Amino acid sequence: MISEKIAKSLNRQVQLEAESSQIYLAMASWAEVEGYNGTAAFLYKHSDEERIHMLKLIKFINERGGHGVIPALAQPSLKYKGIKPLFEEVLSHEIHVSGEINKLVDICLKEKDYTTHNFLQWYVGEQIEEEALARRIIDKLKLIGDDKGGHYLFDRDVTTIESALKSEKGFRSE
Ligand code: FEO
Repeated sequence: MISEKIAKSLNRQVQLEAESSQIYLAMASWAEVEGYNGTAAFLYKHSDEERIHMLKLIKFINERGGHGVIPALAQPSLKYKGIKPLFEEVLSHEIHVSGEINKLVDICLKEKDYTTHNFLQWYVGEQIEEEALARRIIDKLKLIGDDKGGHYLFDRDVTTIESALKSEKGFRSE
């Protein structure tokens, strides 16, 4: 059984994961309209992954005697100045998410809720991977600069950056 305090904190994370899914969905739609089809595919997939992060939390809260609350969502940004500012926003959002996960871990330790602490370790690992991926993408975009051909190749290959990073760093493959 989780305490009310832990349930409330986990539900705040449900909201953040739902917002992440919504933000990446808006980014994907913008990229698709702008003709960045590879980037759109990458972002649609990430939006789906954030929804799975949210679902895992809801199911955990419910299993542990709480109530996973489905949140109202704010309208995300619909336009971006370009691919690089878009991915810079992905990185700063993921850094924010990591900070929130760390706060949750800290609350669990203070409350001596070791079950939830253990559950959250999956999210700790996931954040390391997501931040590394966003940084890798931004590094590539910095190399490309304003080169149009480079942007074309980036968009064609962006979905392969994740698998390359995973095999290189030994990250999980799911
Ligand atoms: Fe589920 Fe990208 O944080």
